[in-house]
Amino acid sequence: MPKLRLRSAVPALLSLAALLTLSACGLTEYPNSTFNHTTDFNTSIDALWQRLVFWGTIVFVVVEAALIFTIIRYRKRPGGPAAQQIHGNAALEITWTAIPAIILVLIAIPTVRTIFETQKPAPAGALTVQVIGHQWWWEFRYPEYGITTANELYVPVGRTVNFELTTKDVLHSFWIPQLGGKRDLITNKTNYLWFTPSDTLESTAWNGFCTEYCGSSHANMRIRMYTVQPDEFDSWARHQASPAVFNPAAAAAATPVTPVANAGPNAQGAAADTTPAPASGYVFPVEKLGAHVVPQTPIPAGLDYDDALLAGGDATRGATQGFMLGGCIGCHAIQGVPGAVSNIGPNLTHIASRHTIASGLYKNDGPSLARWIKNARHMKPGSIMNTIGRGQYDPIMKTTVTAGLDDRQIADVVAYLMALK
Ligand code: CUA
Repeated sequence: MPKLRLRSAVPALLSLAALLTLSACGLTEYPNSTFNHTTDFNTSIDALWQRLVFWGTIVFVVVEAALIFTIIRYRKRPGGPAAQQIHGNAALEITWTAIPAIILVLIAIPTVRTIFETQKPAPAGALTVQVIGHQWWWEFRYPEYGITTANELYVPVGRTVNFELTTKDVLHSFWIPQLGGKRDLITNKTNYLWFTPSDTLESTAWNGFCTEYCGSSHANMRIRMYTVQPDEFDSWARHQASPAVFNPAAAAAATPVTPVANAGPNAQGAAADTTPAPASGYVFPVEKLGAHVVPQTPIPAGLDYDDALLAGGDATRGATQGFMLGGCIGCHAIQGVPGAVSNIGPNLTHIASRHTIASGLYKNDGPSLARWIKNARHMKPGSIMNTIGRGQYDPIMKTTVTAGLDDRQIADVVAYLMALK
């Protein structure tokens, strides 16, 4: 007999274990978890989820207990009486029709309410961010501020942000697990998603993902989102809306002697030295980035670059020669640079203010950037960016690049890009 009691307790124990597991999914332990109350959107979704789990658990426990009880209590015994037939028992049939109907109503009402709540148009005064999916990166535009940026976006806490979702090529899906989503990016149709980061949130960096399979680098199509204080956002937005800070003509006039002599210990230092009056804006502090938002992707083996060259990178030469010779201008816009207006690739106006490159795949630093320019397709499978490094094997074209830039010229372009703060 004790054996039987233990068996009937199994479903209840399983449900309890499931509930305990779910309640343990915390903000710190699982930094990309959706079980957070950081926005109005995920607060209402989570309330619905908890209600469904609550009713689902009760149904599971009651049904399993009744089932196990019935199987054991009314099992066939040798010489036992014939089973009592209940067909036509009106009271029973009404009961087992009514109970599920009531449960469905209890589930349907909050479900429909939440659907309407999350699908209605964004409230007035929301910050519009146009999200444009590309294989395999994200374009973000802020029409209110005249900003075009890529892969990293800033939004102020306490203000509703309304995402207008479209795609340049195939289907993608926008998802910041801890804040809200997912919602698809569809050709020829604008989808909307809005949420309001809680005004009690500290300035925080979040991971985002493409969550609709979109080709070979679908898993490499990541987002960094920064929810920041309103004054930090204003500072960021004002700066991002301004033209590129590095002006090669002014830099050349300011440093008529050999630029290498002016170079600092790294490309970034060199760039800062040659920039006359760098405008600046808020950038999410690198020391506040959690480990989970810092890219961990290893540089692929066989992609060699002499990092010592980066220290001698000349931003002016990178701007006037490398950027043109490398063909960068054919795909990338830099606001304030004549001719650099294409939006095939990410807008690079303030690329040095971003923490990542290649859609969140690598850190935005000299060594990663140099290798990215040298052979992007080796760094990220299927990348549409051409292989620029002279002598590099292009895995898509299946040829070796004979023109392109040598490592020294790449160092110049890196110095230039690192000057675009
Ligand atoms: Cu874009 Cu998957």
